Amino acid sequence: MELYIDTANLDEIKQAHDMGVLDGVTTNPSLIAKEGVDYNKRITEICEVVRGPVSAEVIATEYDGMIAEGRVAAKIADNIVVKLPCTVDGLRACKTFADEGVKTNLTLCFQPLQAMMVAKAGAFLVSPFIGRIDDIAEDGMELIRQIRAIYDNFGFETKVLAASIRHPKHVVECALVGCDVVTVPFNVIQQFMQHPLTDNGLAKFLADYKKAFGGS
Ligand code: E4P
Repeated sequence: MELYIDTANLDEIKQAHDMGVLDGVTTNPSLIAKEGVDYNKRITEICEVVRGPVSAEVIATEYDGMIAEGRVAAKIADNIVVKLPCTVDGLRACKTFADEGVKTNLTLCFQPLQAMMVAKAGAFLVSPFIGRIDDIAEDGMELIRQIRAIYDNFGFETKVLAASIRHPKHVVECALVGCDVVTVPFNVIQQFMQHPLTDNGLAKFLADYKKAFGGS
């Protein structure tokens, strides 16, 4: 399963990149706004750190604006993926970009037919938001399972990118159901290699070594 980081914070991206297993980055307008930086400048800076897919979301909500903004974004770097909303205009823009060979990430996906439609339009990625579905007391993982089944039934090549990840258990469940990609906030990535038994075990090994062989 591919691992993307879901942030526009450069330090977090650099730290995750230094772990050696980062495959890409997703951003959104809220995440870039939080950083208080120029929108396209930050996307450019991210592309200088990570060579894998970097999703840059359009602000426009109508087809013409999406196409104009997406074309500007696609020129920033060759690893840009134009992020479009799962709306009718987003679907139309997705098809246009697919015909032009521009990769897209169809975001804000909350039901399986949105995922089926954008796959038919040639989306590179679809982003179901697991956490936001859980937040309204429904089952975000069920959406991932449904999209996986639909894509497998018909051989759609669009990658399922689980978004709005809240905790490591989401990531484990995504891996178990065959999700292609997860995009994860840095604070959750930091938990991936943590276990108290690892820490305790390591402390015991070192204490036993020192007792037997000395040294600091
Ligand atoms: C995905 O591309 C989005 O940026 C993100 O996962 C949204 O997550 P949130 O629900 O935590 O805002």
